[in-house]
Amino acid sequence: MVIGPEHNPLLEPLDVGSARLPNRIVLAPMAGVTTSAFRRRMKAFGAGLVTTEMVSAYGLLYENRRTLEYLRFVPEERPVALQLFGQDPQAVAAAVTVLLEREPRPDVIDLNMGCPVRKVMKTGAGAALLGDPARAAAVAAAATAAATTVPVTAKIRSGLQPGEVVAVEVARRLEQAGIAALGVHPRAASQLYRGRADHSITAAVAAAVTVPVLASGDVTGAAAALRILALTGAAGVMVARSALGDPWLLADIVLGSTGPDPHATRWWPSCGVFSPWRLRRWAVAGPFAGSASSSPGISGRPA
Ligand SMILES: Cc1cc2nc3c(=O)[nH]c(=O)nc-3n(C[C@H](O)[C@H](O)[C@H](O)COP(=O)(O)O)c2cc1C
Repeated sequence: MVIGPEHNPLLEPLDVGSARLPNRIVLAPMAGVTTSAFRRRMKAFGAGLVTTEMVSAYGLLYENRRTLEYLRFVPEERPVALQLFGQDPQAVAAAVTVLLEREPRPDVIDLNMGCPVRKVMKTGAGAALLGDPARAAAVAAAATAAATTVPVTAKIRSGLQPGEVVAVEVARRLEQAGIAALGVHPRAASQLYRGRADHSITAAVAAAVTVPVLASGDVTGAAAALRILALTGAAGVMVARSALGDPWLLADIVLGSTGPDPHATRWWPSCGVFSPWRLRRWAVAGPFAGSASSSPGISGRPA
């Protein structure tokens, strides 16, 4: 089944501070994955916002060569969110200032408060900030004060351990600190990427704050995206692992294709791309426009 664009809430524009997203389907940040090439593909498939790999605030300040490479993007990716990580409010603010003095300037700056990797957490950054909500708020306040022209968002997890949910408290503090939207990945840091995302936590966060909440976790297709949106009251969804090996999935979500699970073919990505079922759906729903004149999207759909 294909949901018509007029019935698909994910296709409505979303304002994140001063940045207008053409729809509510966001490519989540994935270190080592969301390179410029991957982002461009996702944008061509209709993503409303794409996010870079995370970048270290210190790496930026010390002009680390790899870090500077991560900052590169091309105009066709816009709107682009650049994700920063750091635990020191002053360093993060300085990194934001440096970022905004460079060209091209991102449309959104996202603060990573969910990375569970030991190397990041042991510095007090990433998910470690969930264990210190006051510091998380100080980092966000410093970043929003420095980012005078660009909205600052943050992405959090449920907490450090499964039984210890701090997402609502952290979300409230981040909102007070001035963030413009919040990504919520409702798994604990200790879970890494195991188990199901508990979107009742996303719902609790969405009810507690007024800024848009973007639900991240188990967005495996259009049906899942719409279910999570309805369940949580979130403003939009973030697509992550499901786009790995099956980047066309993002286009399925934009098209509102809720038919048989395209992941049935994911064991071999190219099968997913060329499956007769998928081709038939596209024949019904419309071909890709790939228009250069407007924001890339799907033919006949709001961009
Ligand atoms: C390989 C990989 C790298 C990731 N890197 C980041 C990152 O740099 N920043 C971040 O906020 N989340 C990162 N994430 C988390 C995703 O953005 C997303 O929140 C998570 O995978 C849950 O969504 P899913 O269940 O749909 O995969 C990463 C996930 C994966 C699988």
